[in-house]
Amino acid sequence: MKKTLSLSLTGVALALSLSAAAQADESASAALIAKGQYLATAGDCGACHTAPGGKPFAGGLSLQTPLGSIYSTNITPSKTAGIGAYSLTDFEKAVRHGVRKDGANLYPAMPYTSYSKVTDEDMKALYAYFMQGVQPVDDKGPQTDLPFPFNIRLSMAGWNLLFADDKPFTPDNSKSAEWNRGAYLVEGLAHCSTCHTPRNALMAEESGKALAGASLGTWFAPNITSDVHAGIGSWSDQALSAYLTTGNSGEGSQAGGPMLEAINKSFSHLTPTDIKAITAYLRDVPAQQINPTATKTQITPAKQVNELELLSGNASEGANLYNSHCASCHQLSGEGRNGLPALAGNAALRRPVADNAVMAVLDGLVPDHGQAMPAFSRHMNDQQVATLVNYLFDNFGDARVQTTPERVKELRAGGNPSPLLAVAKGGMVAGGVIVLAILLFFVRRRQRK
Ligand code: HEC
Ligand code: HEC
Ligand code: HEC
Repeated sequence: MKKTLSLSLTGVALALSLSAAAQADESASAALIAKGQYLATAGDCGACHTAPGGKPFAGGLSLQTPLGSIYSTNITPSKTAGIGAYSLTDFEKAVRHGVRKDGANLYPAMPYTSYSKVTDEDMKALYAYFMQGVQPVDDKGPQTDLPFPFNIRLSMAGWNLLFADDKPFTPDNSKSAEWNRGAYLVEGLAHCSTCHTPRNALMAEESGKALAGASLGTWFAPNITSDVHAGIGSWSDQALSAYLTTGNSGEGSQAGGPMLEAINKSFSHLTPTDIKAITAYLRDVPAQQINPTATKTQITPAKQVNELELLSGNASEGANLYNSHCASCHQLSGEGRNGLPALAGNAALRRPVADNAVMAVLDGLVPDHGQAMPAFSRHMNDQQVATLVNYLFDNFGDARVQTTPERVKELRAGGNPSPLLAVAKGGMVAGGVIVLAILLFFVRRRQRK
């Protein structure tokens, strides 16, 4: 009797300690999954891997590239349609090196050139989240079919050799922990350079011009280096943090288009500590003078569109369009009113190109925080949009910047196709030319070393 009791007591103690261990395991893995979810948000994986109205991470979003449409793939843990059969190593290879489980190369529309900076530890958390925290979806969705020679995925191996930098992030010990955290996020998961760094003719980021501003085909992602005139050097820390978390700097800059989307889905969910780290790092990004933003002093003073001009019946067509469509919110002289931004001196009217102002008018702006602006694409033709936007630049911004009805038409249609597209359609000949170009480039690069 006594013996059985002590035996069963040992049994209970064993069972208790086993279940405590299981619980500790479970909460450790819950913590890992939660960390992975945060990192997936910081990496904005959902922005590309979730189609409008589609299931989370089931892919199928069409990404317009100069070479044609590339569809994002299903990255739910479905064994048949997603990445359910990926091991941690397979996952790491895809995310950091752009290589699929079957060995095929991914197109760099997947920002693996930035994600290569993600640490092993964070990779494990991301993997835990995608395997255990995401609902599997058994639908493969549309498949990418690029023209020759880009349908040969092996050609990406050459591209990777030339352009992909898959060195992991190495902290700079001469800088603070905060700076290093910011650098890790900006250069890695938050992939700011994917949009803000100009690309060469073969679509690779130009490393010597990091964050100096680039056109995304429609929207223009401005220079965000520390340069005081061309970049964000004159912004206060508070304005930068406010812009990254709400889309409104409070000092004349509001986010639109792809930046607003990144803020809504990703940056607004980052912790204040991470936003502070990003801000600290941006302050220190080497200044670049290309793609300058006009400073306020270069702006011609607002011509005061006043009611007299309207009443006299002599108002220009631009003024009439402005007064009938825009003045109710932005006010007659573009001064704005509570919560509705001023257009006089607005950052959107100081960019090196007018594209963002055109895009804002065509598509409108819908921030998660604050008031929205309606889309006007159905209410105005190309000529009217161009006249109106030129009126804005003349009166409220950098008058040297103008647009044309032809450009508005292009932007409505999704931006300018790059000459590479025509080349790609040229088929065989083009294939040869591109391979040759890549070889020449490679040879030149090696010679320089
Ligand atoms: C800017 C858009 C974009 C973002 C952001 C993005 N991806 Fe992708 N991803 C793609 C595209 C496009 C493909 C498919 C490319 C192809 O077919 O060559 C892809 C492919 C993949 C694959 C390969 C799956 C397969 O077998 O086809 C994995 C894994 C993946 N992404 C994971 C991630 C993770 C994790 C994140 C966030 C950290 C992320 N992606 C963020 C665009 C994106
Ligand atoms: C998907 C593309 C994309 C990504 C990723 C992106 N940006 Fe942007 N960003 C843009 C575009 C486009 C604009 C211009 C928005 C406008 O004019 O309304 C912009 C504007 C900005 C501005 C305002 C600059 C000004 O002069 O008004 C800042 C600051 C900025 N981005 C910082 C960042 C940082 C920091 C990151 C990474 C943490 C980042 N962006 C990631 C596309 C992007
Ligand atoms: C219903 C009110 C409303 C009307 C009408 C309106 N806007 Fe706006 N506009 C806004 C708001 C709100 C924002 C800032 C949105 C944000 O914070 O993202 C904005 C922002 C802008 C911006 C800055 C965009 C950027 O990317 O930084 C421009 C340019 C602009 N509006 C032009 C116009 C023009 C031109 C018209 C007339 C065709 C117009 N707006 C009509 C409310 C309005």
